[in-house]
Amino acid sequence: MLGNFEYCNPTRIYFGQDALEGLNKELPLYGKNVMLVYGRDSIKKNGIYDKVVSILKSNGKNIFEDKGVMPNPTVEKLYEGCKIAKENNIDLILAVGGGSVCDYSKAVSVSAYSDSDPWEKYFIKMQDVDNKIIPVGCVLTMVGTGSEMNGGSVITNHSQKLKIGHVFGDNVFPKFSILNPMFTLTLPKYQMVSGIFDIMSHIMEQYFSGDDDNTSDYIMEGLMRSLVHSSKIAVENPQDYEARSNIMWTATMALNTLVAMGKTTDWEVHMIGQAIGAYTDATHGMTLSAVSMAYYRYIMNYGLHKFRRFAINVWNVEEKDKSDIEIANEGLDRMQAWMKQIGLVMNIKELGVRDEMLEGIVGATFIMQGGYKVLDKNDIMAILKTASEEL
Ligand code: NZQ
Ligand code: ZN
Repeated sequence: MLGNFEYCNPTRIYFGQDALEGLNKELPLYGKNVMLVYGRDSIKKNGIYDKVVSILKSNGKNIFEDKGVMPNPTVEKLYEGCKIAKENNIDLILAVGGGSVCDYSKAVSVSAYSDSDPWEKYFIKMQDVDNKIIPVGCVLTMVGTGSEMNGGSVITNHSQKLKIGHVFGDNVFPKFSILNPMFTLTLPKYQMVSGIFDIMSHIMEQYFSGDDDNTSDYIMEGLMRSLVHSSKIAVENPQDYEARSNIMWTATMALNTLVAMGKTTDWEVHMIGQAIGAYTDATHGMTLSAVSMAYYRYIMNYGLHKFRRFAINVWNVEEKDKSDIEIANEGLDRMQAWMKQIGLVMNIKELGVRDEMLEGIVGATFIMQGGYKVLDKNDIMAILKTASEEL
């Protein structure tokens, strides 16, 4: 049964090879002071920086740069961004980059005018925004997180060994996002496939929850089939525009809140992945791939009906003369083979996790209630131990 819900997604999307033109439509809607947020040097190398700056200038904007946003943005960087935003009376934050730059920009947008410490307020106490919010727009250059069309913002606090996401309401969603698949073609393969698995994990963690007769599940099966298909093409030929554009839109659809409607949603893999990230600073999607097989094989029997459906509808497993367990296992086997084929990290040791970190990672993992099995700390330790072994 579909649960009750309220749905609104206010982000305007400009998609395709001319998408950057959308900036000319959007910029006149905001004041003069634009904070241009980006990561390290990728947008300078691939020319996106020059294109964006030229459009900002032709629209008469004052540009205040905030560069150096790192993958897995830190709380120290957040404080820096808040200072720039407040001191320069920023009217629009323009994020040019991947999920880290978008997440960070949203964090600055709700924190610059906060009277209390934003880490404590939003990430520890999970409080709502009660102060001025600076509007955010995105030019996306890395595909995976869905941050371009949602209210998520994940910040890492290395001294506390915590990586925590706050899902803000639709008043914090980007006002617009520019999605040009051409902008993603310079991504290193490691980042591309990491993003592909991030998408897969977002879909799976919504799919493997609640009951079966839900429109959202059918949408998600379509998204997963499209992703698996396009990912194989993109890995063979990263310049294939069709595959890359399909992956880009699948990423947005996977986490723009639409497919969560009526679902309880799980997110336990993300909680384990984030705890690993807090200890290792590893690439987000790889923290998910490294634990996923261990996790799904661990919970399979608790949601056998759904793993059976996943095997048949997503991985084309034949049902004839097989038990439900055999069908479900075959689905996971095919998923594992696909993960290896596209070059994902399959165990946590490869991400720098050492045995002496395991207790701490278990402690830093939040327990979620919406999946087919609510884990306890012993379960998480067992999953991490399995995920430490070579597959
Ligand atoms: O810093 P630069 O030089 O730009 O390099 C980046 C970075 O090193 C590079 N890159 C980006 N676009 C490129 C490029 N290199 C070449 N060509 C391009 N076009 O890619 C590297 C990784 O970028 P990053 O933004 O960190 O990756 P991603 O998009 O995976 O974002 C990860 C962050 O998003 C959070 C993660 O936890 C992590 O902190 N998430 C946010 C979510 C949300 N808002 O809903 C949900 C996700 O589950 C996720 O947790
Ligand atoms: Zn993710």
